[in-house]
Order: sequence, then C-alpha cells, then structure tokens
Amino acid sequence: MKTNHVNTFFWEDERVDGVDKVTGKAKYTAEHNLPNLAYAVFVTSNIAKGSIKNLDVSKALAMPGVLDVIYYANCPAVPGYNSNAADRPKNVSEWRGHKVLYDNKIRFFGQPIALIVADSLENANAAIRFVKPEYEQESFETNFDKARLNEANLKGAINYKRGADVTKPIAASVNAEFNIPIEVHNPMELQATIAYWEAEDKVLLYDKTQGPKSTQNIVARTFGLPEKNVRVIAENVGGAFGSSLRSWSNVPAACIAAKKINRPVKLVLTRPQMFSLIGYRPQSWQKVNIAADAEGNFLSINHEAISNTSRYEDFREGIVDVSKFLYASENVTTKYSLLPLDLSTPIWMRGPGEATGCFALESAIDELSYQLKMDPIALRIKNFTAINPENKLPFSDNNLKACYDYGKEKIGWKNRPTAPGTLKENGWLIGYGMSVGVFGAGKGSASVRIVLSNDGKLLLECAVSDMGPGTTTAMTRIAAETMQMPIGKIKFKLGDSDLPPGPSQGGSGTTSTVGSAVDLACKTVQTKLKEMAIQFAPNFAGYTVDALEVKNEMVSVKNDATKSIELVALFKLANQEKIDLTIASNGKTAEQLKFTSNSFSSHFVKLAVNPKDGTIKVLQVVTTGDSGKIISPKTARSQMLGGVVGGIGMALTEKLEIDHTTGRIQNASFAEYHVPHHKDVPATEAWFVNKPDMNMNDIGAKGIGEIALIGFAAAIANAVYNATGKRVRDLPITPEKLGFKSAKA
Ligand code: MOS
Repeated sequence: MKTNHVNTFFWEDERVDGVDKVTGKAKYTAEHNLPNLAYAVFVTSNIAKGSIKNLDVSKALAMPGVLDVIYYANCPAVPGYNSNAADRPKNVSEWRGHKVLYDNKIRFFGQPIALIVADSLENANAAIRFVKPEYEQESFETNFDKARLNEANLKGAINYKRGADVTKPIAASVNAEFNIPIEVHNPMELQATIAYWEAEDKVLLYDKTQGPKSTQNIVARTFGLPEKNVRVIAENVGGAFGSSLRSWSNVPAACIAAKKINRPVKLVLTRPQMFSLIGYRPQSWQKVNIAADAEGNFLSINHEAISNTSRYEDFREGIVDVSKFLYASENVTTKYSLLPLDLSTPIWMRGPGEATGCFALESAIDELSYQLKMDPIALRIKNFTAINPENKLPFSDNNLKACYDYGKEKIGWKNRPTAPGTLKENGWLIGYGMSVGVFGAGKGSASVRIVLSNDGKLLLECAVSDMGPGTTTAMTRIAAETMQMPIGKIKFKLGDSDLPPGPSQGGSGTTSTVGSAVDLACKTVQTKLKEMAIQFAPNFAGYTVDALEVKNEMVSVKNDATKSIELVALFKLANQEKIDLTIASNGKTAEQLKFTSNSFSSHFVKLAVNPKDGTIKVLQVVTTGDSGKIISPKTARSQMLGGVVGGIGMALTEKLEIDHTTGRIQNASFAEYHVPHHKDVPATEAWFVNKPDMNMNDIGAKGIGEIALIGFAAAIANAVYNATGKRVRDLPITPEKLGFKSAKA
C-alpha cells in the first residue's frame, strides 16, 4: 500500500484521501466519541396526522440507563421555535421545517415524538417501546396521484411564456404525461449529530452535513448564539446526494438534549428513519407537448409539472426549467405547481429538478423522432442552440455535439434498429437509447487560507465539506498545477466551520467555486514569492514580478535557467517562516457574466428485454460529459459511474411505497427499496470532452455530479422503446408496465 505521496506529481492520478478512507482511519460523524457521551434515539409516530392526547413517558424513564425522555411537554424553550418575530431576539431566526419536540401535532407518519437519552445506545433503544402515545387522529392525504387531480389541492403555480401560438404547419407532435415516484437518497452514512455544550452559550457539533458553515449559521440563529460560538465539524461525509444540504430535526434535537442533560449527546438516525426524516426527491407528474415541422425544427415546447411538498413547508425545484433553454424553440410555455401532502418535506436529490424534467423532455423528443422518422441524435442536433434562448446569452461553451459523436461511435449506434422491436440477440429483444442532461454551472464565493512554510509544504484550508466526490483530491490537484509542485507536499483541509468560509457542497459547484479560490490563493502566493526573490535573492535584483515564474519549487527568471532559487532557500535568505494568507474569491466577474454556463451530458445505453417475461438487462453504457476541464480524472470518472448507477435505479427499480390507508412507508429498508446491485450495472465507459471552459472561471472546470445522473433514466426508457415498441412514461419501468403479468397470474 502506498501511503507516501511525496513523489507524486499532479499529473499522476490518485485519491489523496483514498488510503485513509479504505483503512478506516478517516472518521465519519457518528464514529466520534467524547468523554461522558450519552446516546439519543427518536421515538416516532405511527399515525400520519393528528395530535398526541397524552404521552406517558414514565415507564421509559424508569428503564435502566435512561437519563431523560424529552418531548413537547418537557422540552426546554428553543429561541428559534418562536414563530412570533416580535418576540425573537435580533440574532434569532425561526427554524424552518418541522420543529422537533415542540408541540403535540403529528404532521407525517414516522415523525419524531420523543427523544430518549440514555447512557448507552442499547439502553436508549430498549426504552422505545415503553413510550406510550395516545393519539387523536385526523384524516390525511398521502396519495399524490389522486390528490393532484383536484385543482383546489394545488398551490403556488409559476407560469412562463415565450413567443406565441404556433401558426406554421405542424408535421409531428407529442403530447404525453410522465410520472416519477418519490425516490430516496440512500447514502451509506446515516444522518448523525453529536452535540457538546462547551459553555452555556458555546456548542461543538460533529454533524453529517454538506455545509459546515450552513449548519453553523442555522444552529447559531436557532439557539441565539454568536456564530463564532458554534463549531461544526464534518471531516468526512459518506455520501449524501443532497440529503445533507439542510439541517434536519436531528440537529436541534441533539442540541436540546445535550443542553438539558448537560452531557454530550450522540443522535444517529436509523436506516428506516433515513427514508422519512432527511428529505427525498418529490413525486412528480409532468405533461410535455412538443410540436415540430417536417424538418424536425421544434415549433413549440409546453411543459407542465406538479410535484409534492409537505403541508408545513414549500419545497420547489427547477423541474420545467430545462425546457426553456436546452433546445432552440421560439415558443415555450411552462407551468409548475406544488401539491402539499401529509408527508415530510422533500429536498434536492442529485440533479434536482433537471433529473425529473429531463426524463420527460428527453423521452418526448425520442418519441417525436420516430414520428418524424429522424434519428434522435440528428433531431437534437437540428435543434441545437449555442445561445441560451431563455436569457439570450451565449453558452460559455456547449460541446454536446462532441458528446454525441463519441457516444454514438462507442455504443455502436449504427446497429440500432430504426423500427422498434425488430432486433434480437440470443433470443432477447435489443434496444439502443440516448438522452441529454444539463445543469447550471455556477461559481460562487469562497475563502481559502493558504500557508506555504519554509520547509516547502503547502497547506490550504476551507470550511467546505466533501460528501464523496473527491474535493480534497481535486483541490490538491488544482494547487499542484497552479503552483507547479508535487501533490505530496500539499495538504487541503476541509470540513470544519472554523476554517475560512466556503460554500455548501451542492449544485455541482464546489470545484468551480472553491477551486477558483485555491487557484487565486496559489497565484497570490506566487506573486509574494517573486517579490521575496527580488528583494532577497542576489540574482533577482532589478527584475519585475512579470519576468519571474514559480515552478518546480523554485523561483526562476523566465527563459533563463541559470537564475533560480529553491523556495526553501528563499525562505532562509528572507529569514521568513512562512507565507500565511486568507484569500477570498468572489462569484463570476462582469466578463464571465456575459455568458450563461452549463455542464452537459449525453448518455448512451444498449439493453436487452426478455420477450417472455419483460426482464430488462442493461448491457452497455457509454456516458459522456461536457464539464470543462477535468481536474481529477479518477474521481471525475467515479462521479459519472455513480450517476449511471443512480440513473439505472431511477429508471428501473427505485420507488418509495406508501400505504395510503395509514400513511406508512412500506419499504424503508435496503431489502425492499431497490437500488441497483453490482449485477444490474454493466460495463460502463465514462468519457469527457475535457475542454477547459475559460469563459466560466479561471480554472476552466465545470460541475459533474448532477449531469452524471440527469437525463439517464430517459436513455433507458428510450432504449426500452427501441427494443420493444412500448413507451413507458411512468418510472420505474417494470415488466408489468411492459405488459407482462407475473407467471402465476
Ligand atoms: Mo446536490 S442535490 O446539490 O447535493
């Protein structure tokens, strides 16, 4: 095993934190322990709606090791739970979302109603069944398919219209409805918080979060603390996909309990609770109507969507937005409404909004291609646009055509039957499908501390966290490339709110945002080094900063190899211990704002359908990404592979099942909620255009995480149609939906 990276240069490709992760040295939130730690577990409701008439906690309190049972009647006041703004101190904001342990109301099945705190996890768990609630039940609605049919149940419609009604002759049109069930993130790591009050007004948190700064801010504002008195540590995050983009009820609950019993408290959600307490991709209904002329030019796109939210909070995402700008069409209308149900609040899940919208749009375009008797790739190229038709700005770059060329070749598109259901291999029906994904590419603000020491080692720090995509590796590689020095001498530290502020890890923005700050910090240090050389090194007097360069751990005169000084020697000459700066990088510059930036992907699938029972076997996947410059090839590829796995799940297996007579989630386990297994995922090739997008930021890199998934489910649906002639518009695509009945039926 290689643990010494000293001789590793930036062009070599490995995960800098890989060894720590696979050897168990890397600690995740729940693995931390503190002296005198107590363990908390939620007791959850087994009704969907109503109120608690009486909650008898006396028997649970008497159980061995139980320290407290906290519920609405004995829960200490939380400043941010006060919904009356006039009563709240200035530094307090109202807690958004479910106010856990606050009142006797039940808003969804599985809602926490009490928190048992004990001296061990076993003792806490053993007490759960002794908490006895008496409920007053109310009628509820969890059935999206039924509730959405009544217009009166919908709220918050947002309409968009561009252009006018089509007057040109329509040669082909598709008007179809699409349904996607609730999907759940299912990261490996359980949501967890450890809270420790170091003083009356000072709390330390180990928290599973995609944003240490965001958690810090929310806790400070909920409990009325100075921000500097809240420290949030999230050094490693074991997958999240959006589920840790906000602080859920586990955060205030752990804080409340730790304060009440005056001991550090660890609260880890159980696997079933991961299905109801940390959000999910909302259920959605969509209708897409596309009309085209005989050449395939889109004359109009109409895209309508409804997605669910909870009763107590609105959650909205960009489901219809993709139809406004991905293809050239003068006439576009969209409408998006919310349907509140008696469920917990949804949250962003990988490719939020676009993954839902692209399934419908990219399926509909495929459908249109058959009507037009056009190749679906040719149809997309026909409607390609280099200008974003919504905001009229040019894309900073758009290499979808290169993606098509590569994917088409590698999947063997020439073997695709133009008439569906006509190709067989080994008795199975064979189909080819493709689709497109797109997601906004942002660049926000971040600060980075950079320390170059007199031993030649470089330290970079930012409060961002990494949920798994490889931020530490990518940031180290950016620093190595800008500084032109070995990766082994660079350390990037993250996951601690005490570090300089960075963004939450979300929306595929970390590499662009934090990477730009790292690049800027390195360039600033290089300037300092050049100035040091001019001031202190004998050979450099009289040179300007521009005449010098920093590389290979030396300052040199450009084009004159005889004049150079090693960094270590320069520090000695200058009698300086280190350069230690904190550099802030802001969002897009005025120049960068002249463009609109997106990452793009195109997915290609070959699959087989068993004509006897409808079993679908994905045989081959080629996934292509236009994400600007690829900073870290290994982790970038892993992002694409993860998107394919998630995409196969979305297309073929994933669905949260709710029993609408009780509101109970029926498949809250890995045994019953089916994510793809190894055998479900075929040989997959991930390819990138790998062309720096220098209109977007100085490092030329755009996001990968979202576009890896977005659109993928449509590639599968399109391939299933190509294989069978059956168009399935409701996910997941099952043999039943292909018209097969179980053998015994
Ligand atoms: Mo991603 S859904 O922004 O974690």
